[in-house]
Amino acid sequence: MSGEKVVIFDTTLRDGEQSPGAAMSIPQKLEIARQLAVLGVDIIEAGFPVSSPAQFEATRLVAEQVKGPTVAALARANKGDIEAAGKAVAAAKKKRIHTFIATSAIHMKHKLKKEPAEVVKMAVEAVRFARTFTDDVEFSPEDACRSEIPFLVEVLAAVIEAGATTLNIPDTVGYVLPFEYGQLIARLKSDVPGIDKCVISTHCHNDLGMAVANSLAGVRNGARQVECTINGLGERAGNAALEEVVMAIRTRADFFSQTARDGLSTNINTKEITRTSQLVSQLTGFVVQPNKAIVGANAFAHESGIHVDGILKERSTYEIMTPETIGLGGSRMVLGRHTGRHGFAERCKQLGYKLTKDEVEQAYQRFLEVADKKKEVFDADVAAIVNDEIRVVEQVYVLEYLHVASGTGTLPTASVRMRSQGETKLAAAFGDGPVDAAYEAIRQATGLAPDLEDYSIRAVTSGKEALGEATVRIRDDSRTFIGRGISTDIIEASAKAYVDAINRMVAAKDTTMQLKVEL
Ligand code: KIV
Ligand code: ZN
Repeated sequence: MSGEKVVIFDTTLRDGEQSPGAAMSIPQKLEIARQLAVLGVDIIEAGFPVSSPAQFEATRLVAEQVKGPTVAALARANKGDIEAAGKAVAAAKKKRIHTFIATSAIHMKHKLKKEPAEVVKMAVEAVRFARTFTDDVEFSPEDACRSEIPFLVEVLAAVIEAGATTLNIPDTVGYVLPFEYGQLIARLKSDVPGIDKCVISTHCHNDLGMAVANSLAGVRNGARQVECTINGLGERAGNAALEEVVMAIRTRADFFSQTARDGLSTNINTKEITRTSQLVSQLTGFVVQPNKAIVGANAFAHESGIHVDGILKERSTYEIMTPETIGLGGSRMVLGRHTGRHGFAERCKQLGYKLTKDEVEQAYQRFLEVADKKKEVFDADVAAIVNDEIRVVEQVYVLEYLHVASGTGTLPTASVRMRSQGETKLAAAFGDGPVDAAYEAIRQATGLAPDLEDYSIRAVTSGKEALGEATVRIRDDSRTFIGRGISTDIIEASAKAYVDAINRMVAAKDTTMQLKVEL
């Protein structure tokens, strides 16, 4: 597509992972990074290397193995952080260090306990030091939107002199409104000496639901990089959603043609949006809300008679984008119990899964079980099967057997057999209902008792034999973990989801994924 480019900087693996409960293992991060490259993002912020050995390793592996995008690492404005970031991205063909320090009075006084002059000095030294590792250095004045504008101008001018090439303007706490954010970008663009040599970037949080609108207001006023995440994941209410920003720039090309002479575009292959969204949702355990723009299950569903009638007459009556543009729809091939291995493998390939022979076999066996119970197996079922079978976190605990008895006037009871590192554990329990009894038996078998914070179940596709997908959120001390499980039996799906969440909790402890530093 023509026109000036808006650089898409994806921070799903860094800010996105800061969503409570969204911790990802290293293989999961690599898988997402590979898909982000297929999606066509320009920059992947792979992690915050100094914060833990697992963050360092994940960033290092993305830098080493993922080809195409620039790989960025986050660092506070100090030598230790920058050195870790520099080492982590060293193997990347295109590498960036993203260093930051807070510039608002509230952060400088209470968090940093530093005078403004000291902050300017630290910012300058950080950028200079980062330049010894790479020519591509991004600087962020954290909490920029609550900073004094003259001070922001002073800091930005100083870091440009020191060698910063991208200036990112974070709305760290999601405070400003689109008009204000646009004005801020315009003011910086006109007042900061030397800013025309740099790319101005947006980084907007969604606390007031303004992240995407603010990012677009930034673009309208001269920003040419947007920092965003898949499905809008991120600290607290999240970051600007990549899919929304990209589709707004594409769908409202008419509006953005007033911003740049030949219009604006991105390098994103929008047909990969749905697949990327589903992968991130599956691996983080974060379900996408049905009415979420672009990637929600209802985003292209028409319910009211008047709308359906209009769509049948002319799609553009109620559709401003086609589902095909984001990789939805296309062939609606239905599989069944007579589908052979080859047909199943072919369908997986068409759905974008690159599976080994063993993985195809494993998924196929599960497919046969499902197809036996369910006459028609749709694409959504195949995706759920593959994601459930193949893309799992390391299974410290495996649920081998589950038996549940419940009914009117009987005490719900459950027995389980679980395997953990070569040992088999049996347990039986009763509960308020069949799911409660199964969960109690799992707690006894694992010896782990995280608090269950949330539980939900939904059908993957329609029909009485539909696959049920259970999602649970558990809490262990201050951290939350989300687990998902699928089955045509909803009690089994529920038990699998609980075991999945427990495995994520155990994996996070093993790899010390927790951020040990304060931003
Ligand atoms: O929100 C924020 O300010 C950040 C910075 C580290 C860029 O994530
Ligand atoms: Zn952020």
